[in-house]
Amino acid sequence: MPEIRPSVVSQDILCAEVRAPPNAMVVFGASGDLARRKLLPSVFEIFARDLLDERFYLLGCGRTSLSDDSFREVAKQAIREKVDHASAKDLNSFARKLYYIAGDYHDAAFYQRIKSRLFELGKKHKVIDSLIYYLAVPPFLYTTIVEHLNQAGLTCPEKSGEKQRVKLVVEKPFGRDSTSAAELNEHISRCFDESQIYRIDHYLGKETVQNILMFRFANAIFEAVWDRNYIDSVQITAAETVGVEHRASYYDKAGALRDMFQSHILQMLALVAMEPPASFEADRIRDEKVKLLRSIRSFNLDQLDDSIVRGQYGPGAINGQEVAGYRSETGVDPQSKTETFVAAKLFIDNWRWSGVPFYLRTGKCLAKKDTEIAIFFKNVPHSIFDSAGLGDIPPNVIVLQIQPEEGMSLSFQAKRPGSKICMSTLNMDFKYKSVFQADMPEAYQRLLLDCMVGDQTLFTRYDDVEVSWRLLTPVLQAWQKDDSVPYIYAAGSDSFPQADALIKSS
Ligand code: BG6
Repeated sequence: MPEIRPSVVSQDILCAEVRAPPNAMVVFGASGDLARRKLLPSVFEIFARDLLDERFYLLGCGRTSLSDDSFREVAKQAIREKVDHASAKDLNSFARKLYYIAGDYHDAAFYQRIKSRLFELGKKHKVIDSLIYYLAVPPFLYTTIVEHLNQAGLTCPEKSGEKQRVKLVVEKPFGRDSTSAAELNEHISRCFDESQIYRIDHYLGKETVQNILMFRFANAIFEAVWDRNYIDSVQITAAETVGVEHRASYYDKAGALRDMFQSHILQMLALVAMEPPASFEADRIRDEKVKLLRSIRSFNLDQLDDSIVRGQYGPGAINGQEVAGYRSETGVDPQSKTETFVAAKLFIDNWRWSGVPFYLRTGKCLAKKDTEIAIFFKNVPHSIFDSAGLGDIPPNVIVLQIQPEEGMSLSFQAKRPGSKICMSTLNMDFKYKSVFQADMPEAYQRLLLDCMVGDQTLFTRYDDVEVSWRLLTPVLQAWQKDDSVPYIYAAGSDSFPQADALIKSS
């Protein structure tokens, strides 16, 4: 009888990318940093991949006075800096789709001018009613802009009446705590339905973060061991080498808990720990994420340091370069208590995860950039090699490397050639770059394209935001009351002792 064996093949299953339908984008804050660094280069990439409809146009709005032509030059320069394969021909054709209008966000007349401009451009480009408003402005302007858009009759299409054709993209952080997030949501919901609102968390646009879903739910072998019976602990780390850069005025009022933890870290946790959704539909996935976040045990405020600690970088050196301490950064209050590092130990109170600690860490000005999710499995229940003198056998570890070297690895023990009792820990791993021979696309490309297509899977729903603030607001309040300051760590270190102690305490 011939042996029947399934062949191991590398195949692409359904790689088709959906093209954007005809639409137009209105970017508030178009002359700002986010537009230049992320939005314009990403929309250009979508255009260069031929995924943008030929009728697409973008109207930039901002306080800086610019003509259409000077905005086009600014955009081309911004794109050249980010996209090294941008050809002059593509840049010129893309630039012809860009327009600009300057004004004061608090002035109702500005929105009337926007309305007339949209009417004129809509006729020229034959895009009626399909609009994406992108708020790339500081959060304190969100409600002002949204309410003015509503008063100007710009939030619901006049002709088709199909609300979903008008979308609003809101950057994180969505609020500063439970109360402000609820207020912001209440203002926005008066003007837009939840189905029109796209709350961005750019981590969800990263290929490696999306891969968590494929890895868990497109393979049978991992899900079978993905619970308290086999997993000892989970560590999620987002370490950065950068400090506050030019964003001190925002960051000093935010801090790491609001800036990274409430959004990126909790989103990664939700994807790694949630129950399997029934389908790949946006709301089925978002339902499971919310359910998971709701199961996180509240922090014990009487013994906060046992489960969450904060740090702030002091002077130090990264890659041989001297770095000033956080409080000496331009724009930072010299007495600032703002945290630049958060480490937490969380428990998820449900059947799957009962008793499994989740260690979550994020910090700025650390020794190296490294974002990863490490799943530590339990030790073998009984080692037959004890009697042969082999001590503790290391546990299996799966690492989902989110960045910078995107990939995955599984460590396991194997016999080394040589003496009879000789064992090594080996790694089975793959790197996206070498396997797929391609650079990882910028997260904003994925998110902007999904928004154009109307797919909300990678955007956070309000109940998700609400439940994460509910978990963290008591911590923020306790830290605010607290007279103590964050622990100081030297820039360029990996961590600090109180953060490490959380892991060792289990
Ligand atoms: C942003 C934070 O959301 O994410 C920044 O506001 C942080 O403070 C950045 O530096 C990290 O993103 P990435 O993609 O570089 O890990």
